Amino acid sequence: MSTQPIGIFDSGIGGTSIFKEIHELLPHENTIYLADSKNAPYGNKSQDEILQLSIKNTELLLHRNCKLIVVACNTATTNAIDYLRLNYGVPIIGIEPAIKPAALNTKTKAIGILATKGTLSSALFHKTTDLYKRDIAVIEQVGDGIVPLIEAGKTDTIEMKALLERYLKPMVAANIDYLVLGCTHYPYLIPMLSNLLPKEVTIIDSGRAVAKQTKSVLEQYGLFNTTSVTAKNHFYTNTNTEVLRHILDNNHAIVEVLDF
Ligand code: SIN
Repeated sequence: MSTQPIGIFDSGIGGTSIFKEIHELLPHENTIYLADSKNAPYGNKSQDEILQLSIKNTELLLHRNCKLIVVACNTATTNAIDYLRLNYGVPIIGIEPAIKPAALNTKTKAIGILATKGTLSSALFHKTTDLYKRDIAVIEQVGDGIVPLIEAGKTDTIEMKALLERYLKPMVAANIDYLVLGCTHYPYLIPMLSNLLPKEVTIIDSGRAVAKQTKSVLEQYGLFNTTSVTAKNHFYTNTNTEVLRHILDNNHAIVEVLDF
């Protein structure tokens, strides 16, 4: 039994899409979430910058006694997870674009992937894609500008719609039937993406898979919180709490500003 919290971090508020999946599956687990919005987006930073930010976030969570870390950011996972796993003594869970189910199930033999430059150019992404690519076309698109709009609370705007229309155009032209979301901010765009894409296109993200993986790792290490006390879900942001509170849509969460 462990009442210690699960630590979750992201370049900002997008990883709350992962928090929500974890909380739904593991409602008794205490959590601490770090929204590094001050440094968002990570997607255009160098690998070394992403690594240093990931180290800073991980150490802060470990300092607060977290028993497991979820890197709720595709860009940080693809660029820093090997280092984090080698250098810290707790289980570390990352998130990768769900290329595999899309590649295995596509009927049109074309899938789209929307992610940051940092994810699409990483060695880990290429390794995964090369495994499943074989006879299918993978249309990669860097989602430049999307994360800053979401961080600014401008998810449902004309500006966002114009960006998405531009990014989806080559995918629709290639007749994709799966769109893989390779950034934890993007699940908040699913309503808009669904309206813009032909109805035959399935949109997939990795949130549920990460939650299931978290559950299975807690089980494997005997780290479940088996007390029946209501879980505490604590959120820290290094900018302001307004957009985070709005996106959480959860009155029970504790949301605070912290200088990190
Ligand atoms: C970013 O900070 O650029 C996006 C985060 C992600 O890749 O999930």
